[in-house]
Amino acid sequence: MPTSKFSVSEKYSYLNGFGTYNESEAVHGALPIGMNSPQKPPYGLYTEKLSGTAFTAPRHENQQSWLYRILPAAMHEAFETLDLSDHQSTLPTGAMKMHQIPNQIRWNPFDFNHDVDWVRGFNLVGGAGDPAMKSGFAIYVLAAGRDMGREAFYSADGDFLIVPQHGVLDIQTELGRLLVRANEICVIPRGIRYRVTFPDGPVRGYICELYQGHFQLPELGPIGSNGLANTRDFQVPTAFFEEDESSWNVICKFNNTLFSASQDHSPFDVVAWHGNYYPYKYDLGRFCTIGSVSYDHPDPSIFTVLTAPSEHLGTAIMDFVIFPPRWLVQEDTFRPPWYHRNVMSEFMGLISGDYDAKTGDGFRPAGASLHNIMSAHGPDAGTHQAASQAKLEPQKVGSQSMAFMFESCLMMGVSEWGLKTCQKAQRDYQKASWVPLKSHFKHPDGGAVNGKQ
Ligand SMILES: [Fe+2]
Repeated sequence: MPTSKFSVSEKYSYLNGFGTYNESEAVHGALPIGMNSPQKPPYGLYTEKLSGTAFTAPRHENQQSWLYRILPAAMHEAFETLDLSDHQSTLPTGAMKMHQIPNQIRWNPFDFNHDVDWVRGFNLVGGAGDPAMKSGFAIYVLAAGRDMGREAFYSADGDFLIVPQHGVLDIQTELGRLLVRANEICVIPRGIRYRVTFPDGPVRGYICELYQGHFQLPELGPIGSNGLANTRDFQVPTAFFEEDESSWNVICKFNNTLFSASQDHSPFDVVAWHGNYYPYKYDLGRFCTIGSVSYDHPDPSIFTVLTAPSEHLGTAIMDFVIFPPRWLVQEDTFRPPWYHRNVMSEFMGLISGDYDAKTGDGFRPAGASLHNIMSAHGPDAGTHQAASQAKLEPQKVGSQSMAFMFESCLMMGVSEWGLKTCQKAQRDYQKASWVPLKSHFKHPDGGAVNGKQ
């Protein structure tokens, strides 16, 4: 069942569908018919093409949109490096310097920050790769409380997958407006300019910036043509523009450095657009969860909402996976996740409630955990004890809860801020979770085990 309690106001209207061609015009007749770039676009608008893939990308990968706007995006002064010395910014500068460590890490809930806006509210936790080489990703904790002024932001480095944990994001993009609340996500593809305000006070959340490729829906294979995240439930903004000839700044994230350029008009002047490269949002409550109805449980890939594939078939640079409320009905089965070591790195966050695979209060909303490549993990001792002896009736887990995972085939480094500066990393996570595990092995012959009788 969808969990979003809000209705969409008239201020925000949406198209349905993701990965498909869409078109929208805020003024009737602003979209040219039959051609993309007429000599004289309707109403004296300029035509601008926004490419999300190489011109020659295969047809099934090709992403582009045509914009019809009052002035082209190129009409601005030169970009200058943005001076961030007046606040705590944890954006990486240049190449990311990361701690590469095998230890399991868990973080207590990250703090709010009422004093910064969207652009200054990213706290780098970790990542891999390099935006200049279009490889890898970065993960940020978002904490901000101030509305952006007459500023627009865009990243040339990657697509932003935004996962609010608390609060409401009012996102004005070049292609229209998005209202995004906790338990919803949105994706702003690289290059698209946007401005974020917080109509319900300070916000907190998580962001994955994808340097390589774009997110797409996973293949469904034997599941068939429906299930998981359905195409029609992704919402795409309709065209919305403003005529504003006051002073604006455009802030650009370019190879992990921020730049700013001034201009004498609003960047949000797109009157009409069409194409398949656009921002979108999705209510996680609409996810159609699939699971075992006999025994065992499937790999957590069954919970994938969006995936960003690598060149290697079936291996993702980034999967966005959720653990929504669901029923467990398997017979004769240890129902929590198995103990495992994974060739992928797993960064988890919690939007709300209690994650069903962990007991106690170590993993709380707005906190996080990282189980890196081949770092062993699984249920803590208490969860194992309880699940091993539980009566296996149909059981609803995760009520009022939503956990998620950013899972990557790349080894995830941890930033200095994530490891030390934020002071949220738990010192005793590994020790408290798994050291208490006891051997229950009983030799069938009652013989010696590890030298013990
Ligand atoms: Fe795992």
